[in-house]
Amino acid sequence: MTAIPDLAAIEAMDANDPLRAMRDRFVLPEGVIYLDGNSLGAASKSVFAELDRAAREEWGQDLIRAWNKDGWFDMPLELGDRIGRLIGAAPGQTVVADTTSINIYKALHAAMGLRPDRSVIVAEGNSFPTDLYMAEGVASTRPGTVLRLEGVDSDHIDDLIDDQVAVVLVNHVNYKSGELRDMAALTRRCHEAGAVVVWDLCHTAGALPVDLDGASADFAVGCSYKYLNGGPGAPAFIYVAERHLADARQPLSGWWGHARPFAFEQGFDASAGIRRFQCGTQPILSLRALKGALDIWDEVDMQALRAKSIALTNLFIQLVEARCAGFGLTLGSPRDSTRRGSQVSFSHEHAYPIMQALIERGVIGDFRAPETIRFGFTPLYTSFGDVWQAVGILEDIMRSGAWQAPRFAVRAAVT
Ligand SMILES: Cc1ncc(COP(=O)(O)O)c(C=O)c1O
Repeated sequence: MTAIPDLAAIEAMDANDPLRAMRDRFVLPEGVIYLDGNSLGAASKSVFAELDRAAREEWGQDLIRAWNKDGWFDMPLELGDRIGRLIGAAPGQTVVADTTSINIYKALHAAMGLRPDRSVIVAEGNSFPTDLYMAEGVASTRPGTVLRLEGVDSDHIDDLIDDQVAVVLVNHVNYKSGELRDMAALTRRCHEAGAVVVWDLCHTAGALPVDLDGASADFAVGCSYKYLNGGPGAPAFIYVAERHLADARQPLSGWWGHARPFAFEQGFDASAGIRRFQCGTQPILSLRALKGALDIWDEVDMQALRAKSIALTNLFIQLVEARCAGFGLTLGSPRDSTRRGSQVSFSHEHAYPIMQALIERGVIGDFRAPETIRFGFTPLYTSFGDVWQAVGILEDIMRSGAWQAPRFAVRAAVT
């Protein structure tokens, strides 16, 4: 077991951090230790200039001309390729559009269409719920479709994959536990059974290196408002492997996915390439915030990011277990860092008031029902000193019982 670091050791970690200069690129409120970038990433300073220019100059002055003059129309593809670089997707396979939920619907339908003789969707019982809700929605439009769930129909996903399975929908990193799946191995297993795989990268994009092309993934979706820092409600992305682009058909056949949208023809003729995964007019101001956020990512070495993420999460686990022992907190994330994303969860029967007490003291993480407190570590702006301070405040709250104050038990609408 490694020795518990002291404050001097923590300061040395920050001094030696190759990403430490990145923190200045973000707006972070004074007195806040932000450990919720896995839910809503912080604003980067470059976002404000982009938003201002898009609103004042382009919308304000160029008006409708901006669709051509300022590149608005092609922005979903341009930003898709920039995200593609972070998720191991060569250009032309990723587009920014709609929400993750909608993109799951599109991807699942398209994937089912590639396996017309099969009727089973495999997913995870402990998935982020929207994935399952959307799978139910797809199943309701295709009579005879069966959903098989890991944790319900079998403990292990491998046992659910056979020659009936059309598509496997999986999270690369689980939203609650932070457990990281082996993308290459599971994709191979799906392909051996003749199934297509859809990866949900919500907790992966911008959190760790991903290699979709290298793993021969079929489809992927993900959001840009978490680790990519695209802003609240920022548009999501969808990836479709090049080999499927000619045949993959998504059901939301809106005019932005048409081969000739400005010919205003009758009848839908899908565009060639990833454009066909668009539906309708996209939120340009939100896309511009995302564009500003992505400027930072052009400079980030993903291997350095992953190394820091592992060091931050390891440190957090080590300090919580050493300093908060005996207070009923149980690690809910894999201890092995190679099987963990960039977040750490602990369970406690009073998780909700504990998190509220932390937030009042300036440590912002979040709560996931029924008894998880969740902390996201974003290597671009989280320091080792933040981890040290956050654990100190958690220890104080647990030791003093401060979380028991009645005001912390009052539930807000968004947790
Ligand atoms: C794994 C996962 N999928 C999907 C979503 C959300 O999808 P949407 O952006 O459509 O709300 C989340 C949101 O936290 C998520 O964690």
